[in-house]
Amino acid sequence: MIASVEPTVEPAVAADLGPIAALAARTFPLACPPDLPRDSIDAFIARHLSTGALSVHLVTPGHELLAARTPGGRLAAYALLVDGIEMDPACADQILHRPTVGISKLYVDPGHHGSGIAALVLDDVVRRCAGRGARSLWLATNVANTRARRFYARQGFAERGTRTFDVGGVSNTDVVYERELGGRAPGQD
Ligand SMILES: CC(C)(COP(=O)(O)OP(=O)(O)OC[C@H]1O[C@@H](n2cnc3c(N)ncnc32)[C@H](O)[C@@H]1OP(=O)(O)O)[C@@H](O)C(=O)NCCC(=O)NCCS
Repeated sequence: MIASVEPTVEPAVAADLGPIAALAARTFPLACPPDLPRDSIDAFIARHLSTGALSVHLVTPGHELLAARTPGGRLAAYALLVDGIEMDPACADQILHRPTVGISKLYVDPGHHGSGIAALVLDDVVRRCAGRGARSLWLATNVANTRARRFYARQGFAERGTRTFDVGGVSNTDVVYERELGGRAPGQD
């Protein structure tokens, strides 16, 4: 797929937190199952996706908040990387390769869905993490998030199992994925 715009992906700075929080509030509901109560979604956004909550990642060792911008400078996507299995230590046994990096968040502005930007941001994440010695990436996404699951499968992630994830007091089932680095994603030859 050819992307309509090639994003620039850079570590976020304090000035990015407002736009990232706004994008996060708009896109987190898209990753949730349709039956999840809106109050639970809002509670999660307030607790984890406010500018204050996101600012913690700028100063936490092993955490990397990334901002992807279009050539015009508009925020098109953001990602949060967390070294190792800190993202959810309960998943440690499912992740086969070390060192690994968790993709805690990967959210693309809906205006850019289907454009190929998500794959380009992921390519940057792969280069970034492989460049510092990671042997795999891992993540978890809701079992009902069909769009993300198709995207990750196409990008070479393999299902490893499931985990339970709390959103505003409601337990959800996520599918855990891992992609070994060094190999090619399907369709990239
Ligand atoms: C997940 C995400 C990053 C993927 O980016 P994208 O630009 O949508 O990805 P693509 O369009 O390249 O691929 C999506 C796949 O889902 C399919 N798809 C598109 N709309 C869909 C829908 N409504 N339901 C199910 N599948 C859908 C596409 O056809 C494609 O599959 P294919 O390659 O097998 O044809 C993006 O959709 C997003 O930010 N979603 C909201 C937040 C989210 O869920 N983030 C992940 C949390 S872990």
